[in-house]
Amino acid sequence: MTTNLSISQTDPASLDVDALVIGVGPEAVPAAGSQGVDGALDGRLAEALKAVGATGKAGEVVKLPTLGALPAKVIVAAGLGEDPGPEALRRAAGAAVRALAGTARVALALPADTPERASAVATGALLGNYSFGRYRTDAQPEPVGELVLVTDLDATTLAERAEAVTGAVRLARDLVNTPPSHLTPEDLAGVAENVAREHGLDLEVLDEKALVDGGYGGLVGVGQGSVNPPRLVRLGYRHPQADKTVVFVGKGITFDTGGISIKPAEGMDWMKSDMGGAAAVLGALQAVAALKPKVNVVGYLAIAENMPSGTAQRPSDVITIYGGKTVEVLNTDAEGRLVMADAIVRSAQDSPDLLVDVATLTGAALVALGVRTTAVMANSDEVREKVVQAAERSGENAWGMPLPEELRKGFDSQVADLANISGERWGGMLAAGVFLKEFVPDGVRWAHLDIAGPAYNKGEPYGYTPKGGTGAATRALVQIAEDVADGLL
Ligand code: BES
Ligand code: MN
Ligand code: ZN
Repeated sequence: MTTNLSISQTDPASLDVDALVIGVGPEAVPAAGSQGVDGALDGRLAEALKAVGATGKAGEVVKLPTLGALPAKVIVAAGLGEDPGPEALRRAAGAAVRALAGTARVALALPADTPERASAVATGALLGNYSFGRYRTDAQPEPVGELVLVTDLDATTLAERAEAVTGAVRLARDLVNTPPSHLTPEDLAGVAENVAREHGLDLEVLDEKALVDGGYGGLVGVGQGSVNPPRLVRLGYRHPQADKTVVFVGKGITFDTGGISIKPAEGMDWMKSDMGGAAAVLGALQAVAALKPKVNVVGYLAIAENMPSGTAQRPSDVITIYGGKTVEVLNTDAEGRLVMADAIVRSAQDSPDLLVDVATLTGAALVALGVRTTAVMANSDEVREKVVQAAERSGENAWGMPLPEELRKGFDSQVADLANISGERWGGMLAAGVFLKEFVPDGVRWAHLDIAGPAYNKGEPYGYTPKGGTGAATRALVQIAEDVADGLL
């Protein structure tokens, strides 16, 4: 972890930092946490905020010079908006810290009087303090060097949790942002191997030969067009007193050209994010290893590069998914469901009490829910609603979607058990979910998360969300594991 988060119970107005972040509510009213600052300004904080045009709207960040009134050189006022719930606090902290890139020491005097609020401030600040400079040789502002959470609470445990969860999100973002030439399937499996070694996770990596020998026709078929062969990674966290097992499966297409059914050139660079599901699963396993919930957690990363070439699979090829079901590949760009099918079938060997798969699976997910909301489908209403709940509690937008039975017949094939694309034109996101459902082991409670929208932010940064890789679903998966441990899911 690159950032240092420390905790201070000192009056923020006397802290030796470069900048001090406070909250501002509607009508530019300074929020709880800013009393000491107001005192240092002779009770004129509200007046100063109004003078510089602060409104307290969500997303707003205004700076006030302190001119020696307190050790910090600048006060940064972050708008909390009308509903100062945990997400508003996370976003305010994130936006303020983003605006302070290049600053050495920053104190956060946002409302942090309950564990929930203190966690939100810590999490938002750590998530906002992100940049991806690995491939830049020109000077870029460094993230904030040290963050100080100001709270009267005993916040050690919650700060450690925030570090673990945001460290996981950071890992997922880094992986998505890494260009595909630097993150081949072998490279991604190598990162997983490092994470497993550092955090004491069980590890199994199937290489291309093991995949052929094992009958993983989805990964082999999708990967065969690339000079960078596929991998299946299994990571395992075990708790000695666990009585439940949750399995996560992530789509790890390191680059999706579409294969022979090639995508248009415009915007194809987006497809470096097509391993966002695997990145979230790897991040979640890393966080789980640190947080040690009382549940067994297994993560599968289904990794391949989808390229067109003389060895690539052809539209009309028939492949055999792990476990024996055959699929006619009518469109090589519907590759995610093929690699996911292998891993979903394989997960039966872990006897999951809950199976959650995460994939940047369909463009249709963007049409349905836009770029900030994860779609949740499941084989029971109860699982779907609880997964949506867990995601929301973790700070991620999620929305339940159906798996209409009538979509199954669209996948009927002339020659194989099923085709990989549907003859039905509408509801492409739901159809992809219906396809995956065919591979879910009997009797297993299952949810499918389509993160095609939220995995990658092509727009401007907002709140604690940077441009590029977002780490979507990482926090949701950690929360799901904790909810299973707590008997909630
Ligand atoms: N990786 C894409 C889905 C995607 C699109 C993710 C845009 C993020 C942004 C997936 O492999 C894909 O190509 N899906 C096809 C499926 C179709 C051929 C049935 C799609 O959605 O167009
Ligand atoms: Mn594709
Ligand atoms: Zn894809």
